[in-house]
Amino acid sequence: MTKSETPQNPVALENRDRTDDGRHFSPSAARNRGPIREVLEKILPKSGIALEIGSGTGEHVICFAKALPGLLWQPSDPDPTSRASIAAWIAAEGLANVRAPVAIDTRQAIWGVEDEAPFAAMVSLNMIHIAPWGSALGLLAGAGRLLRPDGILYLYGPFMRAGAHTAPSNAAFDADLKRRDPSWGVRDIDDLVGEAAPYGLELREVTEMPANNLSLVFVRTAG
Ligand SMILES: C[S@@+](CC[C@H](N)C(=O)[O-])C[C@H]1O[C@@H](n2cnc3c(N)ncnc32)[C@H](O)[C@@H]1O
Repeated sequence: MTKSETPQNPVALENRDRTDDGRHFSPSAARNRGPIREVLEKILPKSGIALEIGSGTGEHVICFAKALPGLLWQPSDPDPTSRASIAAWIAAEGLANVRAPVAIDTRQAIWGVEDEAPFAAMVSLNMIHIAPWGSALGLLAGAGRLLRPDGILYLYGPFMRAGAHTAPSNAAFDADLKRRDPSWGVRDIDDLVGEAAPYGLELREVTEMPANNLSLVFVRTAG
């Protein structure tokens, strides 16, 4: 397994990747934000509010907000250290189309952003495998509740297809995740599709990404 084939997924923000102003840097975000941005430029609506779930350091939302200035970006993370980093990135970049981060844990029934709905898009990168399955279920339920008709749910990360890993490195990564926490693990696209269906969310596109990751594009078809 080469380093480039190994999914790189930060779990907790670490001080060594931090600047004095509170911005954290994630090496994996630096690698994957360009390829993800290229997909988002093609599939996201050009206006409305895009809600990011599990924003981590905040580097992704800054990159996406620059590339898609017609969208208003709402970052979120349940982790206060992550929210401080996101806020520091927003302050440093001075972008008008990124809101202050909010605390959203997808397992909660109320997210606190209901007044802003319906959203044009929801984006979640590298979250549902480093969290209990209930976090994925909560994310899908939230997308069903809060996305506008034709709204987009975009997921990025490693995924299984029809019960099989797409690469040996992903199988090793999955085993490592489960060793760290048995409730974590690389999710199967079929399971997500089945759980998304009752919310009117249809999988429209699967795109292969670097390092054996995938982009999943769900569209909310039900009104
Ligand atoms: C591996 S990090 C990924 C961060 C960033 N999206 C990236 O790709 O670099 C996972 C993030 O999801 C957040 N997270 C974990 N469980 C969550 C949940 N139930 N709801 C929302 N966010 C969650 C964590 O706090 C963390 O910031």
